[in-house]
Amino acid sequence: MPHVLIVDADTESSCALRAVLADEACTCTVATHLRQAITQLALQQPDWILVAQQLPDGCGLDLLQEGGSDDPPGLVLMADSPTVEQAVEAFRRGAADYLVKPLDMRRVRQLIGSRRPRRSDLQRSAEPPQLLGNSAIMQTLRDHIGRVAPTEASVLLLGESGTGKELVAQNIHAASLRHRQPFLPVNCGAISPQLIESEIFGHERGSFTGADRQHKGYFERASGGTLFLDEVIEMPIELQVKLLRVLETGTFMRIGSNQELHTDVRIVAATNRDPEGAIAEGRLRLDLYHRLNVFPLRVPALRERGKDIEILAQHFLDEFNGCHGTDKTLSPKAMAALCNYHWPGNVRELRNFMQRAYILSDRVIEAPLLDTAPARCTATALTLAVPVGSSLADVDRQLIFATLELCGGVKKRAADLLGISLKTLYNRLEEYSNDDRAAALQARHPGVPSAIVVPGYESGLLN
Ligand SMILES: Nc1ncnc2c1ncn2[C@@H]1O[C@H](COP(=O)(O)OP(=O)(O)OP(=O)(O)O)[C@@H](O)[C@H]1O
Ligand SMILES: [Mg+2]
Repeated sequence: MPHVLIVDADTESSCALRAVLADEACTCTVATHLRQAITQLALQQPDWILVAQQLPDGCGLDLLQEGGSDDPPGLVLMADSPTVEQAVEAFRRGAADYLVKPLDMRRVRQLIGSRRPRRSDLQRSAEPPQLLGNSAIMQTLRDHIGRVAPTEASVLLLGESGTGKELVAQNIHAASLRHRQPFLPVNCGAISPQLIESEIFGHERGSFTGADRQHKGYFERASGGTLFLDEVIEMPIELQVKLLRVLETGTFMRIGSNQELHTDVRIVAATNRDPEGAIAEGRLRLDLYHRLNVFPLRVPALRERGKDIEILAQHFLDEFNGCHGTDKTLSPKAMAALCNYHWPGNVRELRNFMQRAYILSDRVIEAPLLDTAPARCTATALTLAVPVGSSLADVDRQLIFATLELCGGVKKRAADLLGISLKTLYNRLEEYSNDDRAAALQARHPGVPSAIVVPGYESGLLN
């Protein structure tokens, strides 16, 4: 199905064009400004761009420089008052056609039908959600995904919560030779320790109380495909031994059976913790770590991705607009505030925030809505200078207060970032109750609950 980007400030003309293209079974996106069109191009490459010659913020032909791929979209310039010089200039710069308004819709239909769908379109149905972002660090990540995907190497995804590790795992599977086989995500931290072994390896009927029929585990169900072991460090240590044995021998047995079954799965594992710290604490086996860590991939935090914040924010807004048939926009000030925030919850937090801002705004999302997005937390707030000679206990204390400050006083999130349990954090705060910083923190963030209670949101921005 061809995808068309219409760029025109004349919304009446865009609507008419959109209706005609819908009849031709095309999908369309409409932008009214060059700036919006450039964001759209980063999100999804169209087959065709139909662009007005003059836009409020520039000349339509400038979009020809934004193609950037080896299969660029065809660009058609739409002129209100045509001149021969402009038409010549358009063709010289590579436009596919030059049409005069009001458009001859027959000609538009002929043009759209004349081009084969892009290769990526033919594969689109099998594709996972797009991994958006144009920052250098994301381009490197995409390059590495492309290199490792067609191999059989195990991949270990490392990155903070909400950075997109599961999305990366889906993209690896989709670009692998196994893409027609299952992709099976398993959250090792969410299955009860009593059931995890049976979930992973399966069981025979009668092998334990309640096992009233045979059950195929993840290794069997993912056969031929990819098994995504999310939060792998949370897997009980005794099970890690068994997992290692499967990975090394390629065989396993269902619980209650002596029959060896062969496995043919590719493993992608992920964690948002520091694996070496987990090894030191005895929560991750070193041998399993080496087996999983054949190809480590770090998924960067959102605050490291520069302009990607704009692309993602616009993408989520487009998604909500698309779902509700609205046309809400972000004011430039609001966009700047988003870019200044450090997003400890990463892309997930940005998505949740955009959803909330979308619901609360009528037409334009304004900066005041983002007041609670602490634009004041700049990169300096992310650094803690500790003089050599400090005691470890003092460093702990400083780090805890700084992290709480960074998280707007939300203890659950601070505990996650610090890699300690909420209970440990409470114990520490009890210890520090006479410290002035505890009182100052309380005064700055009065009534901040230890965990966010609004269903569906994890964001500290909601406080
Ligand atoms: N680059 C991206 N482009 C588009 N959407 C993204 C991107 N990265 C993350 N997302 C979206 O952000 C949300 C969180 O992503 P995901 O679940 O993959 O994170 P995660 O790293 O697995 O988090 P956790 O460690 O908490 O499990 C999802 O809705 C995902 O689709
Ligand atoms: Mg995940």
